[in-house]
Amino acid sequence: MVYINDNYLKLKAGYLFPEIARRVKAFTEQNPQANIIRMGIGDVTEPLPQVCIQAMHQAVDEMAHRQTFKGYGPEQGYDFLRQAIAQNDFQSRGAPITPDEIFVSDGSKCDCANILDILGNQNVIAVTDPVYPVYVDTNVMAGHTGQADASGEYAGLVYMRATSENNFVPAIPEQKVDVIYLCSPNNPTGAVFSRQQLTAWVDYARNNKALILFDAAYEAFISDPTIPHSIYEIDGATECAVEFRSFSKTAGFTGTRCAFTVIPKSLQGHTRSGETVDLWRLWNRRHTTKFNGVSYIIQKGAEAVYSDAGRQQIRSLIDHYMTNARLIRESLEQSGLKVFGGINAPYCWVQTPNQTRSWDFFDHLLHKAHVVCTPGSGFGSAGEGYVRFSAFNSRENVQQAMKRVTSCL
Ligand code: MLT
Repeated sequence: MVYINDNYLKLKAGYLFPEIARRVKAFTEQNPQANIIRMGIGDVTEPLPQVCIQAMHQAVDEMAHRQTFKGYGPEQGYDFLRQAIAQNDFQSRGAPITPDEIFVSDGSKCDCANILDILGNQNVIAVTDPVYPVYVDTNVMAGHTGQADASGEYAGLVYMRATSENNFVPAIPEQKVDVIYLCSPNNPTGAVFSRQQLTAWVDYARNNKALILFDAAYEAFISDPTIPHSIYEIDGATECAVEFRSFSKTAGFTGTRCAFTVIPKSLQGHTRSGETVDLWRLWNRRHTTKFNGVSYIIQKGAEAVYSDAGRQQIRSLIDHYMTNARLIRESLEQSGLKVFGGINAPYCWVQTPNQTRSWDFFDHLLHKAHVVCTPGSGFGSAGEGYVRFSAFNSRENVQQAMKRVTSCL
């Protein structure tokens, strides 16, 4: 007899994006002529920057010759990439991160989930509401929660509400928590933590020996120069935070897969009996046991992002998406909707009209405008009454979608 991981049976419905895909498929089967515009999942649409393409082509050619052929690479990533990341993403911002604290991987989603491998089962876990569902679902799978209640909230998790009243920046919980998931710029609300707010979280974590899991996958979309791009720009964060970063949205790598996680060497956890253990050592052990590294070709493509030409090309990609975000904001605001985000993040978080429920508004837009958004309630109960529009699209699609959406409000 095979026993299963019973925790999976606690999960509510399907993962959000497959559920959206299911509804869209059902609709298109019935309406094959409908020209659907997808503004749901945050998946990039524009081609990879030319510098990345060139670097990848060159790397493919290296694979064709015995002298330059590469087999397994270092599991943690090639030095050329780890050095470029440490210098450009961290040291240049005054964040004291060294190349050996960077672990190159195939995605932040996977890393956010995998990090639970090295954390104990007795931690009190805090998540925001709304939240990127991966943080919650992976804790359910790992057995860190009880059952979900009628609103979909799991017993044992501490939910920190992010609402329009607090500008979608939740307050620090009153109770003591051990692991805190923060995402800035935020998916789904587009909110960002100011330096002062992030400093308060770092102070809390240090005072309570807690760990912050900081998801900065959207940092490249920050336009306000006062907003920190990395938690390590805050003093003391190397003692209390892991940071997740990705080339997916920054450089269009959702299909090619490359990301990295930063585990500072000064980060410590505790055994049940209270001894301290370096998290770096555990993560390195995990990573080298369960992962064989990102392909050389893709890492060469990622390295090219940091060249002068790479920076310029990335800038114009991001400008393209952020112009889309502005168009979405402006169109919906002109139609009288309340729109949040879309300034330092590629997501607009939109209050539905007349308190329509999120999935109802999703269905309305799908059926009447043939536009797909993401229902806010899929990110948590505080997301009810909102939908998210992704700015990752062609300009034509965004313009067309906004015409259709605003005419059916
Ligand atoms: C989203 O739409 O929230 C993102 O695409 C999710 C992800 O990056 O995994």
